[in-house]
Amino acid sequence: MRRLLITGGAGFIGANFVRYWADKYPDDRFVVLDALTYAGNMANLVGMSDRSGYRFVHGDISDQDLVASLLKEEKLDTIVHFAAESHVDRSIHEPDAFIRTNVNGTHSLLRVAREVWLERDDAPDTHLFHHVSTDEVYGSLGPDDPAFTEETPYAPNSPYAASKAASDHLVRSYHHTFGLRVTTSNCSNNYGPYQFPEKLIPLMIVNALTGKPLPVYGDGSNIRDWLYVEDHCRGIELVINSGRVGETYNIGGNDERANIDIVKEICARIDVLFSQRPGLAAAFPEAPAAAGRPTASLITFVKDRLGHDWRYAIDATKSRSELHYEPLESFDSGLGRTIDWMLSNETWWRSVMDGSYRDWLEKNYS
Ligand code: NAD
Ligand code: TYD
Repeated sequence: MRRLLITGGAGFIGANFVRYWADKYPDDRFVVLDALTYAGNMANLVGMSDRSGYRFVHGDISDQDLVASLLKEEKLDTIVHFAAESHVDRSIHEPDAFIRTNVNGTHSLLRVAREVWLERDDAPDTHLFHHVSTDEVYGSLGPDDPAFTEETPYAPNSPYAASKAASDHLVRSYHHTFGLRVTTSNCSNNYGPYQFPEKLIPLMIVNALTGKPLPVYGDGSNIRDWLYVEDHCRGIELVINSGRVGETYNIGGNDERANIDIVKEICARIDVLFSQRPGLAAAFPEAPAAAGRPTASLITFVKDRLGHDWRYAIDATKSRSELHYEPLESFDSGLGRTIDWMLSNETWWRSVMDGSYRDWLEKNYS
């Protein structure tokens, strides 16, 4: 039985992981620590407070007293570290928060973990600090380059990627220098339920349903390797349970797509759904599909992102061979599930995009 601290558990992947873990390991204790930034929402954790073993703490990973007291009082033996600023565009606009949370915040967490787990007599018998990172630390690929392996040299290009690369190095150093038991996973682009509608897939779905332009950066040819979020959670589970301490593992979907193809696919699927389900036109009257017009009419090519990485692709051979990792969801089925989820959870996406409702949820669901 594990006793986990899950940082960033009110964010997209963290919340999916909390639900995944609670279903699979109902006897574990899991404490969620989240600062509830714009990306963290109690709405992502609705229903969790009824589960035994679950506790939510509103706080910052940089609050060393708070983290130390949680680790000690709750006798936590595992940290799964999701908390981060995660959006590349925001890191271009305002990089400071990325350094504060991703670099200094991760270091603060490592420092406390070291103090509590390595320097105290009453430390748990064993411990693990699992760091959740991204494939963006490896930089950008050309069309014929081989996919990123764990040996690919780091070459981060955005302030977001650079801050995650710095955090990866700090995690590695705490293992090498102090003997902290760490693992790191570097994952490709995720999508699925509870993803904040600023990232490509949920943003396009929300805009398509509300009749807003679908902004495609540059010519839309940039390629990402897409993974359904539950498969990422499964990959992290495998690393936590069976990964070798001190190692990093790449997790990917083996499903590369150009942005423009994804946007067109979302448009086509929404058109079909509106033609099959007459209730959708009444529910989303601003959608072009409600008036029988093609959703693709909303596609708008806009100025490119600064320093826009052209292609990411993960080679997950190590995870496959060592951990038997395999994504279960194809992009086709995962995208279908995601669109269905967004259609059924209009209250969720409207609420997370609206501050006052967020405050209300926080008061009522904490
Ligand atoms: P997210 O932005 O949806 O959620 C981040 C969460 O961290 C939010 O709940 C936020 O409130 C919390 N947080 C931020 N600063 C904090 C702080 N100082 N203290 C405590 N909590 C804080 O992010 P996500 O997409 O769920 O990503 C989770 C992790 O996975 C990140 O580390 C990210 O780098 C990594 N990752 C994401 C993707 C992806 O496609 N989204 C892919 C690979 C890796
Ligand atoms: P995003 O979801 O922000 O993830 P990341 O930048 O971490 O890969 O973006 C995915 C791709 O989609 C990326 O190439 C940028 C592009 N994109 C757009 O073309 N339009 C948009 O409105 C957004 C948010 C992203």
